[in-house]
Amino acid sequence: MSERLHIPSHDQPVTGLEEEPDRLTGGSRFLRACLRKPVDRTPVWFLRQAGRYMPEYQAVRRHHSLLEICKQPKLAAEVTITAAEKLDVDAAIIFADLLLPFEPMGLDFEFAAGEGPVIHKPVRTAEDIAHLRTDRAGDLGYVAEAIAHVAAHLRDRAAIIGFCGAPYTLASYMIEGGGSRNYVHTKTLMYRHPDVWRRLLDKLVSVLRDYARQQVEAGADCIQVFDSWAGSLAVEDYRDFVLPATKILIRDIQATGVPVIYFGVDTASLLPSMHETGADVLGLDWRTPLDTTWRTLEYACAVQGNLDPITLFAGPDLIRLRVGQILDQAGGRPGHIFNLGHGIVPGTPVENVQHVVRFVREHLRHAPPVEARHG
Ligand code: CP3
Repeated sequence: MSERLHIPSHDQPVTGLEEEPDRLTGGSRFLRACLRKPVDRTPVWFLRQAGRYMPEYQAVRRHHSLLEICKQPKLAAEVTITAAEKLDVDAAIIFADLLLPFEPMGLDFEFAAGEGPVIHKPVRTAEDIAHLRTDRAGDLGYVAEAIAHVAAHLRDRAAIIGFCGAPYTLASYMIEGGGSRNYVHTKTLMYRHPDVWRRLLDKLVSVLRDYARQQVEAGADCIQVFDSWAGSLAVEDYRDFVLPATKILIRDIQATGVPVIYFGVDTASLLPSMHETGADVLGLDWRTPLDTTWRTLEYACAVQGNLDPITLFAGPDLIRLRVGQILDQAGGRPGHIFNLGHGIVPGTPVENVQHVVRFVREHLRHAPPVEARHG
């Protein structure tokens, strides 16, 4: 774990917070919430907070491709820091992309304008999978370098979130060759050649584990594992074909000493199984009510979410109402990180994102302390 933040271990009693509620920094507030420890106010950050809706990012993007930004650590750090400071959030997610590990595995891809990622030669056969390399995760060192720059700048003002894709979501990009609607190729391989499928997931886990470790060693305080498309799976398929490899990855990342956020979309029916990975925090999308979902999980993990990102196109009054409703559903219980249910979309007014941060803070300023409500 990064030396910058001094987080009490899981079984240490929390002391001092009651007397000094203002002493928490953004970084420690966020990390305490990941570990379900009481905080002075709910930490907040946003999925895709550094992306295309932000004029500062668009200005950088005019001169550099997405991959150039990712591969120039100073630039990636600047984009990360600018967004976190402009929004005044408790955590900064490193600017990178889910698909970066494909390159050292031997898969070329590009981001075609308006189309999303395109993988030139999708992986479809046992032979294709045999050719994937697992020994060059070190080539991704530029992401760790960017994290080190961000850590040196932010110190503990905000936590640094590193990230990687989950085995299923990355396998689906590799096999489909890009985004997909029905995941036909992915599921065909999974059903018909489960041994080959398992080899692919094992290879991904091996690379992702090294990649996440590099990020932690460089100063990431937490790793978010994006299983963005897990919601395309039936529970039985998730359990038989995806859960085992994902659990190994998450446990291996936790062994580096940082908490893991496991995120997916449309996962209402999958959440109890996703919880079995042992992730410290589960991302919730806006289709599942936070209160009942968390109760179903028996409050045994922290939760992150879950405002509909499109609510950010509404007026301030409705945004304030929805933010308040989510905070009320969390009820001040330790272990809630305020976020959207999925990423900010292009065209989102930046001031509305800033309003959310303010509403989260104001809501809690008027609320009784956590201890009074939950004794
Ligand atoms: O705050 C941030 O935006 C952090 C950086 C970040 C990017 N990608 C940069 C990016 C993060 C966290 C990602 C994750 C990512 N990448 C996911 C999971 C995200 C989720 O919300 O579930 C996925 C599925 C990808 C793959 C990917 N990259 C797609 C599908 C696309 C095209 C569609 C899109 O979202 O725009 C990208 C391109 C991409 N990656 C952009 C950014 C800022 C936008 C394009 C650009 O600037 O050229």
